[in-house]
Amino acid sequence: MSLYITTPIYYVNARPHLGHAYTTIVADTYSRFRRLCKEDVRFQTGTDEHGDKIAEAARAAGIPPKEYADRISKLFREAWPPLNIEPDTFIRTTDTHHIRTVQNILQKVHDQGDIYLGSYSGLYCRGCERFLTEKELVDGNCPDHQAAPQPISESNYFFRMSRYQEWLIDHINKNPDFITPERYKNEVLSFLSEPLEDLCISRPKSRLDWGISLPFDADFVTYVWFDALINYLSGIGYPDDEEFSHYWGVAEHIIAKDILKPHAIYWPTMLRAIGLAPFKRLHVHGYWNINEAKMSKSIGNVVRPETLCQDFGVDTVRYFLMREMSFGLDASFSDESIIARRNSDLANDLGNLFSRALTMINKFAKGTVPAPADPEPPDRELAAAATDMVASYTDHMKTFAFNRALQEVWSVISLANRYIVTSEPWVLAKAPAKTTRLQTVLYHLAETLRLIGLVLLPVMPETSMKMATALGMPPEAFKKHNLIDHGGWGLTQPGAKIELGASLFPRLDKENPQKPAAPQTQEKQTVSAVPPAAAGDAGLISFDDFKNLDLRVAEIKAAEKIDRSDRLLKLTVLAPEERTVVAGIAEYYQPQELVGRQVILVANLKPAKLMGVTSHGMILAARDENGRLTLSAFADSATPGSKVS
Ligand code: MSP
Repeated sequence: MSLYITTPIYYVNARPHLGHAYTTIVADTYSRFRRLCKEDVRFQTGTDEHGDKIAEAARAAGIPPKEYADRISKLFREAWPPLNIEPDTFIRTTDTHHIRTVQNILQKVHDQGDIYLGSYSGLYCRGCERFLTEKELVDGNCPDHQAAPQPISESNYFFRMSRYQEWLIDHINKNPDFITPERYKNEVLSFLSEPLEDLCISRPKSRLDWGISLPFDADFVTYVWFDALINYLSGIGYPDDEEFSHYWGVAEHIIAKDILKPHAIYWPTMLRAIGLAPFKRLHVHGYWNINEAKMSKSIGNVVRPETLCQDFGVDTVRYFLMREMSFGLDASFSDESIIARRNSDLANDLGNLFSRALTMINKFAKGTVPAPADPEPPDRELAAAATDMVASYTDHMKTFAFNRALQEVWSVISLANRYIVTSEPWVLAKAPAKTTRLQTVLYHLAETLRLIGLVLLPVMPETSMKMATALGMPPEAFKKHNLIDHGGWGLTQPGAKIELGASLFPRLDKENPQKPAAPQTQEKQTVSAVPPAAAGDAGLISFDDFKNLDLRVAEIKAAEKIDRSDRLLKLTVLAPEERTVVAGIAEYYQPQELVGRQVILVANLKPAKLMGVTSHGMILAARDENGRLTLSAFADSATPGSKVS
């Protein structure tokens, strides 16, 4: 099987930020995953350089648009290698071969009668670079740009998109995977339930001249979306290149929800008019917010990928983004959340498992992986869990459920940490009669870690390589490993020489991420002292830890929306004193339905400010695998403020 995977081509009116980095890391991770399945992959990204937005940004910078586009496009191209993103092609819409392709396509579609000259009066939003319908406006403004669109009346060329509406509905219904996750497919179908208007695909040069000239009328340039979408074809050499014949049939696009309509409606109908099969799948993800607020220049909370890499390291950034977002839903970024994942999932769970296993192999088996004897039930359980994990991980990765794929890996990491605790290698090491048992345990740890390192390759390529090297696999050999030939149990060669290296993920200091935190006691301990710390590693906490939590019954007295946030509600609760709590539940609950409910409150959480409101505690809710929230509740009425234990 082959794959052609693309990201959107990004506008060059702004520097790369977390949102661009996320989509491109998803594309890179997915490319690496499919290569790990022995598939042949082509991965394309690039920049979208024509249109109003860019012309305006260049004017503001006081330089010609092409010079401006060159400058920002370079920033995108250079943003990817430090994130270990390795596209095969970086396309620019100012590339001559792209311009030629767009003009050839326009001519063809025009000649067959699918483009006509008409006149148009409408409300034009410069930010969206399109005409908006009355229905789309909120209080007379474009909802995305909070500005009133301008009334414009002019002659323009139109693409007969309406001609393909029925075909598109039919195609979406017959191909359930065409647009995923399903909520976006439903959104598109609901949009298509109304008659589709033809698409205005030109702009008069008198108004905008930064674009591709229409081949059949030099007074107009091409509408930026008609130009940009064609990058997916020009990048693989449409119409004559072999690459095009090889890859077009396996094209999958990744986008965020903001550009669903151009990709799910304009693009397939354009392809139909060109006489090409539609792309295979469109993967649509949600938005990253920052501390629950929309990321925007005006709020001043734009997160830059280079700063993240400096502060946290590239693999922590990649892991966090893939683990934290449920593909399709919005997610929130904060320094606290990335540090928490780094310290718990990476330093504590994976990092400790790895260093303890290697230290024990070093100390108890002279630094070489020993041969296993007959496995006992706990060994079999670990081996079965590791190989089952490879299968379920693969299923989740295929469907873009990256967070769930990683959860599967982390269950095995927890199990392996528990296996160390229960099999007590440090005790076995003291009894010469137990040497074979010790060797079997150490082998099972090494082999489990090999499989963990292998499946982590798409998400954390550097860590995966470090793990392989430490486990005695030469990098050149490991680079050729794949899930088909190497995803089964038992491929670690007894006798492999391990290499003890630096810790994979030193813990980070919460106040000052660049500075590693003072090592926890367990990191200072020698192997013989491993057991007491092990409970923490296995994801277990002591009763004393639990007692530190002050959980209470809270009764909601009032609830209201917080301005500028789609997710947050401000709640006034009694627990038993009155306090304000901010909860990220606005997408699931209306304020009025909350009054009178009793929920569980974490009452001794440090106060935190969210969108200007200080929250004194947190209410508990369950989030299911589809991201749906359900509030905690009591079966019978309780007294507000009662302790929950
Ligand atoms: N140029 C068009 C795309 C043309 S594709 C033929 C465009 N460019 S853009 O620079 O605005 O990029 C939009 C894309 O950037 C989103 O679809 C998404 O991939 C990414 N993101 C931008 N902000 C984002 C978030 N806050 N969160 C997640 N991804 C977002 O639209």
